[in-house]
Amino acid sequence: MNSNNQPIGIFDSGIGGTSIWSAIHQLLPNEKTIYLADSKNAPYGQKSKEEIVALSMKNTDFLLEMNCKLIVVACNTATTNAIQELRAKYNVPFIGIEPAIKPAVTHSKTQTIGILATQGTLNSELFNKTTEKYQDTKIIEQVGHGLVQLIENGDINSPEMIKLLRSYLTPMIEANIDYLVLGCSHYPYLIPQIKKILPEHIHIIDSGEAVAKQTQKILREKVGFSSAENSQPIFYTNTNAKVLTEILENKFTVEKKEF
Ligand code: DGL
Repeated sequence: MNSNNQPIGIFDSGIGGTSIWSAIHQLLPNEKTIYLADSKNAPYGQKSKEEIVALSMKNTDFLLEMNCKLIVVACNTATTNAIQELRAKYNVPFIGIEPAIKPAVTHSKTQTIGILATQGTLNSELFNKTTEKYQDTKIIEQVGHGLVQLIENGDINSPEMIKLLRSYLTPMIEANIDYLVLGCSHYPYLIPQIKKILPEHIHIIDSGEAVAKQTQKILREKVGFSSAENSQPIFYTNTNAKVLTEILENKFTVEKKEF
């Protein structure tokens, strides 16, 4: 496979997909990445499938104008509602993110796992097809109402956040889960808070590393790696850049753009 120095495009409904960007950047530091935070339209989780498909196409059009060689849909809600439509419309390869149900089910000893995700993900056909395969495990589904908005507002450590998390996680603890699947790319930023609520024996899993490995595989097999060294990432948001800059620990510049 020849080298390919075009950038990788990554989008999410907001700042949460930077958890996926970070896993990709760590594994593939030579790849140039362009991250798009569609915070103006967040949260996607309560929108209709049609709206999510239209927003995902808008984001893809923007990234393709920037000459991206591959698109990572760093949003479970957009993946579970729109990835088939994206793949049908565009020629570029897409990598999506889905809740890591399979590893949780495979390793669960109590045969009871919990999943925290958006309404859009839990209601999607793709997600329900996945869970149908695991009839022997009890899967406790919980919509994380309000969590994405609080993260987008920079209120990760607020008392309201802790209160919401407690109300979502306590029934799962009582039901004896031993795995908690984070089915939204915003939620890895809540791991420190979640760990304070969950007993130590409950494992938390997200999909960041799996997406990064899949990206590496597709570059190796179909697209080509960058031949540059340590490329600088680019971040765009369509709202105030402050919260995105902060979640990136002030290490990168974020540009505001209309898209
Ligand atoms: N970060 C997104 C996800 O993984 C979407 C959250 C939202 O916009 O509701 O589902």
